[in-house]
Formats: sequence, structure tokens, C-alpha cells
Amino acid sequence: MYAERVLSGMRPTGALHLGHYHGVLKNWVKLQNEYPCLFFVADWHALTTQYDDPQSIEQSSWNMLIDWLAAGVDPERATLFIQSQVPEHAELHLLMSMMTPLGWLERVPTYKDQQEKLAGKDLTTYGFLGYPLLMSADILIYRADKVPVGEDQIPHVEFTRELARRFNHMYGREPGFEEKVEAALARLNSKNRRSLKDARTRFQQNGEREALARAKALLGELDLAADDRERLAGWLEGTGKTILVEPGYLLTEESKMTGLDGEKMSKSYGNTIALRESAESVTKKIRTMPTDPSRIRRNDPGEPDRCPVWQLHQVYSDAATKEWAQQGCRSAGIGCLDCKQPVIDGILREQGPMRERAQIYLDHPALLRDIVAAGRDKARQLAGETMRDVRAAMGLTSG
Ligand code: TRP
Ligand code: SF4
Repeated sequence: MYAERVLSGMRPTGALHLGHYHGVLKNWVKLQNEYPCLFFVADWHALTTQYDDPQSIEQSSWNMLIDWLAAGVDPERATLFIQSQVPEHAELHLLMSMMTPLGWLERVPTYKDQQEKLAGKDLTTYGFLGYPLLMSADILIYRADKVPVGEDQIPHVEFTRELARRFNHMYGREPGFEEKVEAALARLNSKNRRSLKDARTRFQQNGEREALARAKALLGELDLAADDRERLAGWLEGTGKTILVEPGYLLTEESKMTGLDGEKMSKSYGNTIALRESAESVTKKIRTMPTDPSRIRRNDPGEPDRCPVWQLHQVYSDAATKEWAQQGCRSAGIGCLDCKQPVIDGILREQGPMRERAQIYLDHPALLRDIVAAGRDKARQLAGETMRDVRAAMGLTSG
């Protein structure tokens, strides 16, 4: 049975925090149980904005991998790798740059947005303009079916889809398509071969869409190599093999995690708790968190709705504790430090297993290197398959 492939990447920007955990990472941990997943450190993407200060990227990359593993991303289930260790991404980026209209890149909304947001930085560079194209290469090189992204990244996936369509339209069929289809058919048993041929005739001569749909479902069940499956799908429909697969996206819901000041938890606001922050620091940060400003003295009643600590209760406390906090706050029956304790406990409980998992890799860095080396090998193998087709389609020799 063909399983759809999931791919996502993250820029290395420093220690991940609980907002990343509740937004992106928990989602990855769920996805890895449902699909074959590839997750990679987008270190070249970091360079598009950090080209003038690259020294921290390498360390951030390794730390981020530890954060992923700490959060429960399982290297047995997901392929983890570092983008710059798979140079095929750069090759595909270059080849696609030949046929990417400049206007498409200039119109990507993040292009102008980010230039305005990072106004102190000169982002009138070739690399920064090409960043969505690099992201497209990341996705298309693995023929990813689903890309989990936040809302801000959706235009990039749309861009990728348009580019794949343009590419397929321009370079169409792979050379030797007919022979390869024959060879793939020859490897099937005669019953399956007959039903595919029959469905093809019924669709192409009589326009029977159901026959096509049934045949495609059959393709999904047969034990076929991924490229043969695409060839046969193209043959059924009367098109060529799709060289680049148009990806879909999976919208990652924005994390509702509140930061220490009541704003959304974000590195740029300086209101974060790191995934692996020490227990002492977590305790101190929560204890000094602002509360309802009208609760000046212990005896003043407060209003949870005006208090950022209450937001954290939403994430970390059960119904009974929330009831206790609300009542105690409004009646001045509890102090703010009392109220904060279950939140502190909740965060420490959540961090416990993460810290344990991280410790394994901190104690044995070779384990982490092995995981990432295996991920690189797997990624390069998949990327290599796509690149062979791309080179051939663009008239280049694979050597
Ligand atoms: N651009 C993404 C971000 O800034 C990171 C990224 C790079 C990515 N390549 C990708 C995400 C491919 C998904 C798929 O968040
Ligand atoms: Fe906030 Fe709790 Fe203090 Fe009320 S008692 S102000 S909810 S910290």
C-alpha cells in the first residue's frame, strides 16, 4: 500500500520553547505515527537572513535536533537530517531557477513583508529572493505529498505547486517512458496487468472515470516502486510520468501557548520558556510572572481573565485545579504564588521526559551523529532518484 509522504523543515534559530512544542512538535510526533515522515534542519534557509553572522547556525542545528528528539520525534519512525548535507537540494534549486519567472518570486508575500520586518538588514540579495524556490526544491525533491506548515508558509506551498506544474508541463515525459511502462507492467501478475490495461482502454476510449479511479486505487495497493507507480498512473491517464509531484499542505494550528507576559510565546518577545530550561529557572520565571494588575495586595480579589498565569492553567491544569484557581482568585482565598504552583508543577512534569531523552544524546553525542548520518543517507537516496529524472528531463546526463 502506498503511504503518502510527509516532509517539513525548520530553521535553526536557537533553543526551541514550549510554544514550538505545543504548536509544531506535538504535531510532528503525531504525524510520524501516521505517515512516513522526513524532518530536516533548514540551515541553508537560516543563511538567507543570517548570512552576515553564520557562526551560530551549526550549533543551533545540533541543538534543535536534540530538542526534536526530546519532544518525542522518533528516529525509528521519522527520517531526520540536515539540509546542507544533502547537496541535491541545491542542484534542484539551481535547475529550477532556470525556469522560474522572476515575477513569481517577487510576488511571494513574505518577500516584501520580511524585508520590511527586518528593515535593519540588507535583504536585497539573490539568496533571499530565491528562498521560496529553495523551499520548493526541499519539497519537490522528496516528492512529498503533504507538508505541515504554519499559515505564513502556505503561499510557499502554493508557489511550489505552481512550479511543479510548470516544470511538468515544460519537460513533460521522461525519455524512455514507454519502455519503462512495459517493464513495470511485465513485473505484475497477469490478472493485475489485464485489469490495468482494461481500465486504461475504458477511460481513454470511453471516458469512464470510475474505471480510472478503480485502477488508480489498485496501483496504490500493488507492491510497486514509487516511480513505477507514477509512470503507470501517467500511462493510465494518457499523460507522461509526473516528474515532480504537486504537494498538498497540512495546516498546523497556531500554538495557543501564552508567554510569560501574556502575549503569544515567541523568541522575539523574549517571553519564552525553553523546552529544556532548568527547573530552577522555570520556577523563577513563573514566580516572577506578572498577574492581574489589580491584585496588588494578598487580600485584593483578582480576575483570572486579566491574568497571564490563568492562560497557562488552560494548558497545564485539570478542571478541578482551574476551578480552585478561579474561585481562589476571585475571593482572594489563595495568593498568586499558591495559584502559580500547579502551573510550575505542570511544566516540570511535561519537561521531565524531554529532559531525560535529551540527556541521552548529550551524554552520547555519537548517537545523535549516527541518527543524522542515517537520515542523510536515506534522504540522499530519495533525492537522487528524483534528480535522475530531473536531469534527464532537462537534457542533462547523470554520468
Ligand atoms: N520556510 C520554512 C520556515 O521558515 C522552513 C522550511 C524550509 C520548510 N524548507 C521547508 C518547511 C520545506 C516545510 C517544507 O518555517
Ligand atoms: Fe492570576 Fe492566579 Fe493571581 Fe488570580 S490568583 S491573579 S489567576 S496568578
